Amino acid sequence: MAHERNKNDVKYVGDSRVKVRKEKLYPKPYSEYPGKTEPFFPNFLLKEWMAAVVFLGAFMVLVVSHPAPLEATPADPNDTSYIPLPDWYFLFLYQFLKYFPSGTAVWGAVIIPGFFALLFLLAPWLDRKPDRRPSKRPIATSLMLIVVAGIVFLTYEAVVQHKAQVEAMEASAAQHAQQAAPAPAPQDQGTTATFDPEAAYMQSCSACHGQDLAGTAAAPSLIALNLTVDEVVDIITNGRSGSQGVMPPGMFSGTEEQKKQLAEWVLSHQ
Ligand code: HEC
Repeated sequence: MAHERNKNDVKYVGDSRVKVRKEKLYPKPYSEYPGKTEPFFPNFLLKEWMAAVVFLGAFMVLVVSHPAPLEATPADPNDTSYIPLPDWYFLFLYQFLKYFPSGTAVWGAVIIPGFFALLFLLAPWLDRKPDRRPSKRPIATSLMLIVVAGIVFLTYEAVVQHKAQVEAMEASAAQHAQQAAPAPAPQDQGTTATFDPEAAYMQSCSACHGQDLAGTAAAPSLIALNLTVDEVVDIITNGRSGSQGVMPPGMFSGTEEQKKQLAEWVLSHQ
């Protein structure tokens, strides 16, 4: 009779109250393929290193035979209109930094990017789900999408803002040139009388060097200088930075002749 069968033989089939325990179908871990895997160290790494050496060698040959095209002029510390821009792969960090008011830059430069880098490094320990499909890993996938979207957005913003900055700079330079243009006219007529070095000094120099040339906290005294006229003209044109601070270039934007007169006037104070 049926109920005399061995208990272990009994099988219940299709009982909807019993949850069928379905095996989840994951791809097998790679360790399940003996003979078809290799140890990371040294086998795999050695191959990587060999490829890296070949690549680096080729790269060095390329670098030596085709030197990097640097920006047109050699670096000029006096060029205040130069707006530096990092390479494209750092643009997002550069832009990110702009959102931090001065004094809190360490957050934008070190702490927040460092936190994300750390998360990235710890990901294999933090996220141990065996699923490999992106749709099965919503947290990891959405985090990555947010970060990638953020990087794309910041890079875009950096480029747009840089363009606007350069254009504004060029516009103001053009305006400057227009304002400065009428200045040489009096020189043609040989009228040195129209230029008053004292007035020019009061306007362009006295804020730092003092109305009596005796110096202020911002700049040293200009009395009894041991300089030639040409040297002073050079300082007026190119500025100077030394132990007593920084004098920016172009504080006085007159002609060479006017600079000379201004220099002579300064040097006349003994
Ligand atoms: C923004 C402030 C500032 C203005 C404006 C300025 N200077 Fe200066 N100047 C300085 C500083 C700071 C120094 C010192 C630099 C150093 O340590 O070498 C200096 C140095 C000099 C020196 C060299 C002094 C020395 O002891 O060798 C001369 C000359 C001079 N300035 C002339 C001028 C003249 C002329 C003007 C106006 C066209 C002018 N400066 C406008 C800040 C200024």
